[in-house]
Amino acid sequence: MRKLFKKTQSAWEPEKLPRHIAIVMDGNGRWAKKRSLPRTAGHAAGAETFRRIATYCKNIGIEYLTVYAFSTENWKRPPEEVEKIMQLLEKYIIEALGKMERDKVRMKFLGDVAVLSPRLRELVAKAEKLSKTFEGVQVNVCLNYGSRDEIIRAVKRYTADQIIESNASTESTKNMEETIGSLTEEKFSKYLYTADIPDPDLIIRPSGEHRVSNFLLWQSAYSEYYFTDVLWPDFNEKELDNAIIAYQSRERRYGAI
Ligand code: IPE
Ligand code: IPE
Ligand code: MG
Repeated sequence: MRKLFKKTQSAWEPEKLPRHIAIVMDGNGRWAKKRSLPRTAGHAAGAETFRRIATYCKNIGIEYLTVYAFSTENWKRPPEEVEKIMQLLEKYIIEALGKMERDKVRMKFLGDVAVLSPRLRELVAKAEKLSKTFEGVQVNVCLNYGSRDEIIRAVKRYTADQIIESNASTESTKNMEETIGSLTEEKFSKYLYTADIPDPDLIIRPSGEHRVSNFLLWQSAYSEYYFTDVLWPDFNEKELDNAIIAYQSRERRYGAI
């Protein structure tokens, strides 16, 4: 039995690892319910799993790990639950700051952080600033993130930039048509939260749900999806190995043959 387990552990090919793995950390509530615990206990357990998986990704050489921690729609939940999730995020960042010099994990937060508490905003800014130059794994935490919101914001910012540019321009020839025509996918991507982050190669959704839930709509155009029934708090290194093995068996064609 032990031998078989070991073999599975090393069954992925190191030279074909996904550069960027994204995970919808789902199933915390159901995990708690199964144990007759409050939903918040599920979130605490899920936070532990996140620590474990981030460390594993770093150790095996994944370049980018993006996790969906709190969506723009999750505000619909009871305030006590939202509060607990925010507390867990604070706790995570404080701990991460404490071991930053040792771990060298580059941290980034994707989403509208402007509406978070001043304390959480401060921690987010600090973690990003202090880890900016680290060259290990980059962990992107999606916090108050919604992909539709991200796209609308990008459109607004792009348009605003064009107006500023055309006002500053001395040539009166820069017309609206030219401005619209000059927008490319590449330019647009720079206005998303994920500017400068390669698109995810592999997106994992545990908990048995087979939906995207407003996660990386633009960026997932050619991502490989992996679904598993395992609830996020039960997800572990072995589960990630299985997802990577499945990913490596896929043929990515990008529309070609
Ligand atoms: C994911 O787990 C955590 C967040 C969305 C913040 P859930 O809380 O959605 O867990 P389930 O889906 O209810 O089991
Ligand atoms: C997606 O999970 C968001 C996060 C994991 C942060 P949800 O639990 O919010 O998604 P739905 O509501 O089941 O689609
Ligand atoms: Mg859920």
